[in-house]
Amino acid sequence: MNILAIETSCDETAAAVVKNGKEVLSSIVFSQIPVHAKTGGVVPEVAARAHVEKVIPVVDEAMRKAKVGKRDISAVAVAAGPGLITSLLVGVDTAKTLAYSWGKPLVAVSHLDAHMAATEIAIMHGRSKPKKFEVRAKYPRVMLLVSGGHTQLFLERKKGDRRMLGQTLDDAAGEAFDKAAAVLNLPYPGGPSLSALAEKGDTTAYAFPRPMSASGDYMFSYSGLKTAFIDEVRELKARGVAREKARANLAASFEYALVESLYIKVERALDQYNAKQVAIVGGVAANKKLRDYFAAQTKKRTRPQVDFIVPDRPLCTDNAAIVGAAAYEKYRAKKFANPKTLEADTGFGK
Ligand code: KG4
Ligand code: ZN
Repeated sequence: MNILAIETSCDETAAAVVKNGKEVLSSIVFSQIPVHAKTGGVVPEVAARAHVEKVIPVVDEAMRKAKVGKRDISAVAVAAGPGLITSLLVGVDTAKTLAYSWGKPLVAVSHLDAHMAATEIAIMHGRSKPKKFEVRAKYPRVMLLVSGGHTQLFLERKKGDRRMLGQTLDDAAGEAFDKAAAVLNLPYPGGPSLSALAEKGDTTAYAFPRPMSASGDYMFSYSGLKTAFIDEVRELKARGVAREKARANLAASFEYALVESLYIKVERALDQYNAKQVAIVGGVAANKKLRDYFAAQTKKRTRPQVDFIVPDRPLCTDNAAIVGAAAYEKYRAKKFANPKTLEADTGFGK
């Protein structure tokens, strides 16, 4: 069965056709980066207008690339929240209209569940050769969700049994990346540009804090790290230190501190719950340092042995294929939304 999925939570207008929750027949993402680069960040009103302009062409392209018509679609799915309310409204309204007029069931999913469902995807078409992923969930599993709006750690004892162990007390990991990048005057979006600069720097040049590492729980905090970073940038500017190298060292040390602080909590959970697998998902999981560090650390573990999984990069940042993957179980359980009453909701799924 095929699901047409729509995603407009923040600044990507995306649509996808996903077969049986696992096989991505098409995934179209229209990125609004050039629109928001001018303002150095997302202006909600501007994002919503861009969604309105692009949502139908993107849906159309997803259907065309998947070579399907409305008769081949079993349900329409949408991420109904969390996200920017004016952005969410566009996707939700489009999905409601399509489901109603086509006479198909409507499935509403949480944007966060969608990020986590990225681990369910087994095949991605639309490349020169379909890309296959090995999907083999092992439980207990620890799942770290790191995005622009969220940093949350979950324990999954078995499929469908997930509980949150902790989350950030202030900034999300992606937000911290974006703010640090802004202090260095790097272009929007900040995460990838800071990461690119960090590749040329020394991760040990600055001893930034690993926030909350001794807190004995699963909470995260990034405001202290951000302040330490801003203070260091100011001091360097005042001293007029050699610019490019110092900026790269700052970026590298910051990125490393953030990555290590995430792993400290993950490792604690792996030990406490005897976990067999760890997964990282969300936009920040596209970060190379984070992926490499987690791969290296988990490889070292012998007791218990831990498997590390991370979705392909395009499945980490916002896209609609993961919405289709998340909608599949809900569709099978007949948990449908009403196309006449569904509303976008920034607290969806809570
Ligand atoms: O999941 P996502 O696309 O949207 C939200 O749900 O928030 O995540 C976006 C966040 C942004 O903060 C962005 O800077 C960050 O993910 N991000 C990265 C990288 N790619 C995206 N951060 C660090 N390194 C990257 N390569
Ligand atoms: Zn997201």
